[in-house]
Amino acid sequence: MHLCVVASLLLIVTARETESASLCPVKTLIWGPGLNPKIVLPARYFYVQAVDSQGHNFTSSPGENAFQVKIFAPGEQHSRIWVQALDRKDGSFIVRYRMYASYQKLQIEVKVKDVHVAKSPYILEGPVYHESCECPESRPSEWLRHMKCPKSIPQILHDLQLFQTVDLDVIAKEIPSRFGQRQSLCHYVIKNNKVYLKTYGEHVGFHIFMDAILLSLTRKVKMPDVEFFVNLGDWPLEKRNSGKNLHPIFSWCGSNETRDIVMPTYDLTESVLETMGRVSLDMMSVQANTGPAWEDKNSTAFWRGRDSRKERLELVKLARRHPHLIDAAFTNFFFFKHDERLYGPLVKQISFFDFFKYKYQLNIDGTVAAYRLPYLLAGDSVVLKQDSIFYEHFYNDLRPWTHYIPLKSDLSDLLEKIQWAKENDEEVF
Ligand SMILES: *[C@@H]1O[C@H](CO)[C@@H](O)[C@H](O)[C@H]1NC(C)=O
Ligand SMILES: *[C@@H]1O[C@H](CO)[C@@H](O)[C@H](O)[C@H]1NC(C)=O
Ligand SMILES: *[C@@H]1O[C@H](CO)[C@@H](O)[C@H](O)[C@H]1NC(C)=O
Repeated sequence: MHLCVVASLLLIVTARETESASLCPVKTLIWGPGLNPKIVLPARYFYVQAVDSQGHNFTSSPGENAFQVKIFAPGEQHSRIWVQALDRKDGSFIVRYRMYASYQKLQIEVKVKDVHVAKSPYILEGPVYHESCECPESRPSEWLRHMKCPKSIPQILHDLQLFQTVDLDVIAKEIPSRFGQRQSLCHYVIKNNKVYLKTYGEHVGFHIFMDAILLSLTRKVKMPDVEFFVNLGDWPLEKRNSGKNLHPIFSWCGSNETRDIVMPTYDLTESVLETMGRVSLDMMSVQANTGPAWEDKNSTAFWRGRDSRKERLELVKLARRHPHLIDAAFTNFFFFKHDERLYGPLVKQISFFDFFKYKYQLNIDGTVAAYRLPYLLAGDSVVLKQDSIFYEHFYNDLRPWTHYIPLKSDLSDLLEKIQWAKENDEEVF
């Protein structure tokens, strides 16, 4: 449903006359990191907001082919650039492109019919590097500035404050001896911008995700020499109270009962690295695949997943008692015994994008935090989130009743909260 073209191909105008009539190319807005050659991303992107001749923003789609985007390297015969325009259906688009070669110069054209939009054409004076380029910026501080990274990130400051000084020789012995037998860990060293690693434990396959993000970073910026341990398992590890001899361990999931340093999940980093590649679900593609408009969504609450936590079993039982309120079913049994009389038959997995046919999305912990939450929040359904001790790196920025409707951890108020949401449609939307 979203538009995919090789850049050298001009898109065909199919926007309906009545809609495109009031679309005003000069007043339309274009902005974003993909217009800045120094912001090197696996897939670069920028935004287009449709504006009418009166200067009002469009709040619904001007037609998914309203804009024609062409991205090419002037003077080159073929530009190996893959372009997508994602219609967010709210009057705005995300245009993203993935380059398969680096170029000295890039030209980005956005047009309506034959008329340039906003300040199009945009000329990016290069070099404009592609994702696989071994082209590190030698000054990390410059790179941070180009990338517009925030000066500080509260969650990082919070997690690191327990580790004012770390003796690397000591932790290199103590962490493997404490956790190396029963857990899965990876010891990373970045030295002279090369990545070295040593794994401990049995199930260490997930180090490939961490390798990928570190290698992507070292291609883009000369990293300082650094050494650290990454937890390759689900559960955060450091359970000691502060004051004791704490060990710094990086984990994908944090909890109120542990001291691990939380970082973006492998799921999120992979979706960023593989945007417009192997992965089809990412934070941008979700925004263009949110299903029907709110009023046309099914008002049953929706959940699919596997049996990785007791509350999930409770949820499915509850759904079977209240099918008019909740559609929840298992796609897989692994942790518990599958009693079909209690939980019904397994159902086929459906595309994540199809979740958004439903108004209410339930986010229930799995073994740890449910890593689907960022994607659920990027959709336009309402998220009901179970209270939990587990969190991902961004949860600190979330506010209950703003970003989601909170549910008690034992789900005892689930029916009541769904009912409330249904009765307060205006407010929820
Ligand atoms: C139109 O949309 C842009 C981009 O989201 C926003 O910055 C701007 O304030 C909006 N303009 C109006 C008049 O609402
Ligand atoms: C809404 O979804 C439920 C559960 O998936 C289904 O039984 C029901 O038929 C759907 N309602 C409509 C109006 O499609
Ligand atoms: C966990 O910590 C967060 C943030 O400090 C807090 O909002 C939340 O209530 C805590 N949850 C539990 C279950 O203790």
